[in-house]
Amino acid sequence: MALVELEQRGHVGLVTINRPEALNALNVQTLRELDAVLDRVEHNEDIYVIIITGAGRAFVAGADIGEMAGFSAAEGKAFGLMGSGVMQRIARFPGATIAAVNGYALGGGCELAMGCDIRIGSEHAKFGMPEVGLGITPGFGGTQRLARIVGTSTATELILTGRTINAQEALQMGLIGHLYPADEMLDRAFELARVIAAKPQVAVRQAKQAIRIGTQMDISSALAFEAEAFGLCFSTEDQKDAMQAFLNKESLPGYKNR
Ligand code: COA
Repeated sequence: MALVELEQRGHVGLVTINRPEALNALNVQTLRELDAVLDRVEHNEDIYVIIITGAGRAFVAGADIGEMAGFSAAEGKAFGLMGSGVMQRIARFPGATIAAVNGYALGGGCELAMGCDIRIGSEHAKFGMPEVGLGITPGFGGTQRLARIVGTSTATELILTGRTINAQEALQMGLIGHLYPADEMLDRAFELARVIAAKPQVAVRQAKQAIRIGTQMDISSALAFEAEAFGLCFSTEDQKDAMQAFLNKESLPGYKNR
């Protein structure tokens, strides 16, 4: 049985972390399989949007504690770099990525969700960064991404206390954008993914990169970066077709891919 599964539905790739007996904890093998699935997704030009979710009652309950327990400092650093490399690869995926958080998203699970562009949760979703209580820091990008998403004060409180928050609180602090009943959440994730997959993809990808990379720059550099992305879109057929359709009072052509 694969520890990470990939299913393609139209232009959407559903990635499922599938180690439910350990609440989908990320051991080295699961991270390797996730990396291999990302290889397949990146080489598949038909997949425009990825949804990441977890099998069973958890999204991902963190990095594998049993595996980490005996690590030396050098092994710990190597494991952290491996995990944060996978999260960064998800963040850098050219198309849109959606975390559909079905249950526990703790430590590395919260970091996996934060590597995605968009996060939605079911009523069973729970988030937290328990690492400090285990005598370590977050190591798969959590100190950086949580602070950027919810602000440094809230991130510092969550990381230093290790407090678990429920989906409602995650929604209030902007860690997830939407909260759905458990039996609807994956359908809603697909609806969202299909809306994005139906848009002109050069514009989707350029807009994503402008947000992702531009927000790490000073404002002048970021606006110059945005101008490049904006200009590049005018060299696409999609831009010509979409604007002509608007001028002809026709529906926009993005929906042809539905
Ligand atoms: N690493 C390794 N195994 C894990 C794990 C993790 N991060 N999280 C859960 N598991 C395993 C448990 O050891 C247990 O295995 P077992 O059945 O062989 O004993 C199984 O998953 C089910 O977990 P259990 O603790 O029995 O479920 P629960 O409903 O009582 O509690 C949690 C759920 C998420 C609160 C609890 O599992 C937990 O605190 N996990 C660790 C979370 C964490 O600290 N993550 C950050 C790591 S840096």
